[in-house]
Amino acid sequence: MAERQTWDPEGYDRNARFVTDLGAPVLELLDPKPGERILDLGCGDGVLTAQLAAQGCRVVGIDGSPAFVAAARARGLDARVGDGQALAFESGFDAVFSNAALHWMRQPDLVLQGVHRALVPGGRFVAELGGEGCVQQIVAALEAALAARGRDGRAANPWYFPNDVEYRERLERNGFQVREIRLFPRPTPLPGDVTGWLGTFCLHFTTLLPEAERPEFLAEVQQRLVPVLSDTQGRWHADYVRLRFVATKPA
Ligand code: BEZ
Repeated sequence: MAERQTWDPEGYDRNARFVTDLGAPVLELLDPKPGERILDLGCGDGVLTAQLAAQGCRVVGIDGSPAFVAAARARGLDARVGDGQALAFESGFDAVFSNAALHWMRQPDLVLQGVHRALVPGGRFVAELGGEGCVQQIVAALEAALAARGRDGRAANPWYFPNDVEYRERLERNGFQVREIRLFPRPTPLPGDVTGWLGTFCLHFTTLLPEAERPEFLAEVQQRLVPVLSDTQGRWHADYVRLRFVATKPA
């Protein structure tokens, strides 16, 4: 059976720092004010949470990964291990912020119910996640290489990538007013070879195979992706699509 995704903060820093770097526009959309109480849902290692704290916000980070929470606490933050699909906060936050985390939560209504409960009336939910079509070339290569080994990659896929129409309806059904929502492609340059990205984000797929088979599997996935995700100079990008929105809990 595949293992769950686990996180190694050092590997994340090496292979995926762009995820938080590219979170800057989402922070801008949040427009945090000093003194606001903000919940950072899926705070990871706390790099964006720390930026909110530096702007004078009273911020709590929550993440499912104990390793990430330890890294966030090492930055002096109030970070807690918790499941975004079972938030236990009651009306204490002026805003909930989330960058690149919601697509790991396969029960979106539970997430939205918890966020709604956590907000004060008039509070806002500002977030970005992977949207429909995100990393579809990478997923196709993973599934093809797994199928060649008699494994079902589709069943292992851990991600939820909604489109804007579906997610708007979901937000509204869960009591939010949608101020804006946008689905857009964002091809994302990688700091190195796609293998670093695969090693960081794809444990649900790679752990379907015995450990000894994984290096050859990753090499095959990389080869399948050369024609679509790398250029003639050997520079790689990931085929990201983002869904970004602002929604409010009515006052
Ligand atoms: C992200 O961090 O945005 C991401 C992670 C895995 C798949 C797609 C996107």
